[in-house]
Amino acid sequence: MTTAIDAMQFRKALGAFTTGVTVVTTNGGDGKDYGLTANSFNSVSMDPPMVLWSLGKKSTSLPVFAAAEHFAVHILAADQESMSNRFAKSGTDKFAGCALARGHGGVPLLDGCSARFECRVVHRYEGGDHVIFVGEVLNFDSFNRPPLAFHGGNYGFVMKKSDDTADAGSSFGDGWLGFLLARAYYQLLMPVRKNLASQGLRDIDYNVLTVLSMGDGRTIAELDQLVSISGSRVTEEDIGMLVERGLVSLDRHGSKDAVVQFTGAGRRYAIELLAIAKAAQSDAEENLDYREAQVMTLLLKRVIRSTAAALPDHWQRDHFWRGQSLWRDAVTTHAT
Ligand SMILES: Cc1cc2nc3c(=O)[nH]c(=O)nc-3n(C[C@H](O)[C@H](O)[C@H](O)COP(=O)(O)O)c2cc1C
Repeated sequence: MTTAIDAMQFRKALGAFTTGVTVVTTNGGDGKDYGLTANSFNSVSMDPPMVLWSLGKKSTSLPVFAAAEHFAVHILAADQESMSNRFAKSGTDKFAGCALARGHGGVPLLDGCSARFECRVVHRYEGGDHVIFVGEVLNFDSFNRPPLAFHGGNYGFVMKKSDDTADAGSSFGDGWLGFLLARAYYQLLMPVRKNLASQGLRDIDYNVLTVLSMGDGRTIAELDQLVSISGSRVTEEDIGMLVERGLVSLDRHGSKDAVVQFTGAGRRYAIELLAIAKAAQSDAEENLDYREAQVMTLLLKRVIRSTAAALPDHWQRDHFWRGQSLWRDAVTTHAT
């Protein structure tokens, strides 16, 4: 460093600038393929179409790129993190097992990226400990795959920032997580509620059927204990009503260890409700792309984990699930 700048702090500050990740490739005079991971890529000019990137002078491929007349830039897709890591390691056969096509000047073209630019070198500039390459774009492809992002030394996803996040937290009501989760839950449940109402059933019946779906054969006391996480209680009358409707059966009637079980009709109805709930989920996720849906699930699971410490033992997740559950069956049936 020529000035009194702390190299680590400088690197950290630069890392605040979020970039994509590219792999730049070329074919050497020796006929071999060369390439490296670079996030210094940027657009330069529309007319003529030009891009740039910079190469560290310590890079082993510097002599090859310095002599090359062409290079290709691959903007990596979100699922190409391993390719980024592979091309960031010197001294390995980076192209082993990669499907390759050939572009202008015989440059190797890799598959699976978000976009690809074939370039002719028009300028090389000294830039301190890097060399800046400016290329004229001769050909490009765009593949409409979500890109891999790089920020603060970590890989990331790109997620569209929508208007409704702009003022999140602006007031206690619509910024409070509890409100947002409850609102999302009740809205998501509307098709299920509609179906319940058409059968003359209530929320408490749904709660009981849901817990039984996670594994039936529970006593009324057990059902009451599990359902009470929702704030509702299960009484003998509630179960009696479900028995009358032919949805559940109670063996050893009258004894306090009486066990509540699905009847055939009850099981079929629970599966129908499950299908309605799944369809509601698909509708809710319609405006989310794959990554957003993944991120939402991930974050909700984190919230569940971070708030689980206060749960009494009987509300721990494992107590809800039994070996024989309709949900697991439905998932397995779906997957096969
Ligand atoms: C996300 C990421 C971005 C990088 N960006 C650049 C860059 O813009 N320029 C550069 O010279 N090296 C960059 N590197 C480091 C090179 O990929 C690495 O030094 C590589 O080993 C050089 O390969 P070579 O020695 O085979 O030429 C980056 C590495 C990573 C992981």
